[in-house]
Amino acid sequence: MPCPGPGKGDDRMLATDIGIQGSDLLTLHDLSAQTILDLLHLSAQLEHVQDAPLRGRTIGLLFRKPSTRTRVSFEVAALELGARSIYMTESQTQLSRGETVADTAKVLSRYLQALVVRTGSHEELEEFAAAASVPVVNALTDRFHPCQVLADLKTVLDAKGTLAGVEVAWVGDGNNMLQEWIVAAAKLGIHLRAACPAGYDPDPRVLALDGVSDHPPTLLRSPAEAVRGADVVITDTWISMGQEDSDRKRAAFQGFTVDEELMAKADPGAIFLHCLPAHRGEEVTDAVLDGPQSLVFDEAANRLHVQKALLLAILGE
Ligand code: CP
Ligand code: NVA
Repeated sequence: MPCPGPGKGDDRMLATDIGIQGSDLLTLHDLSAQTILDLLHLSAQLEHVQDAPLRGRTIGLLFRKPSTRTRVSFEVAALELGARSIYMTESQTQLSRGETVADTAKVLSRYLQALVVRTGSHEELEEFAAAASVPVVNALTDRFHPCQVLADLKTVLDAKGTLAGVEVAWVGDGNNMLQEWIVAAAKLGIHLRAACPAGYDPDPRVLALDGVSDHPPTLLRSPAEAVRGADVVITDTWISMGQEDSDRKRAAFQGFTVDEELMAKADPGAIFLHCLPAHRGEEVTDAVLDGPQSLVFDEAANRLHVQKALLLAILGE
């Protein structure tokens, strides 16, 4: 059975219509706005996929950092599409004994039809992609997290019915998640205001990207100013994987906790998102995370749907 196809008279789309077959996904900057919207549309179609369009394919997951959501949602996405997956940690491969990234990518390309990589440096991911002869998907680097932000976008679209013109407030670190949101917002006409403590702004290289420099986020220091009237409030851990867990950094983030008082400054219909895992009581309180405006578990569920769309669009025939 091929990819889901358009039924007569409905708006179902073919995964191949998306136009990213065989492509890498290192950041949403790689995709056009239309491709992002098409992927979100396909992900909604695939929530209850019945057939197995990727039967016979094998997807590798090579993770140098821990993961709950990304690993499991990719494995289940592959399974539901009829493909199989192989999960590899750094210590289970010869990377741990110094085999080069390029040699690893070339060898794995002989066995697998796609490689999903979680690693520290974004440059290393680019090295994987340059050496691999199969599509490489970014499962998180220190610079970007495209699969998570696709799920965030689906969550916002489902809740608000639109993306263009939506007011999104980011409160916290200028990290991989904010940087991916900056790229997505610039492409999709989302108004993004980000409050980061001094010294923790997003990477100037991301702000200078084509398309981002013309549609930059509003960078602020005040969480209250960022959140005022917002439709969506987002935060993330103050200490990302691989970063030093320092008292200095925690001190810089005092006043950046998303609590009920801060949420009350947003639009009354605002939703709260967090990619998880959360550090409860630090960047967000239990009352917000478990409160009525929080969609964090729908957001996590959407990882599965968008990853199915992504795998199908990249590997479908
Ligand atoms: N949000 C996210 O990427 O979670 P994991 O680290 O559990 O994959
Ligand atoms: N910014 C976080 C996201 C975790 C999913 C990190 O990189 O650890």
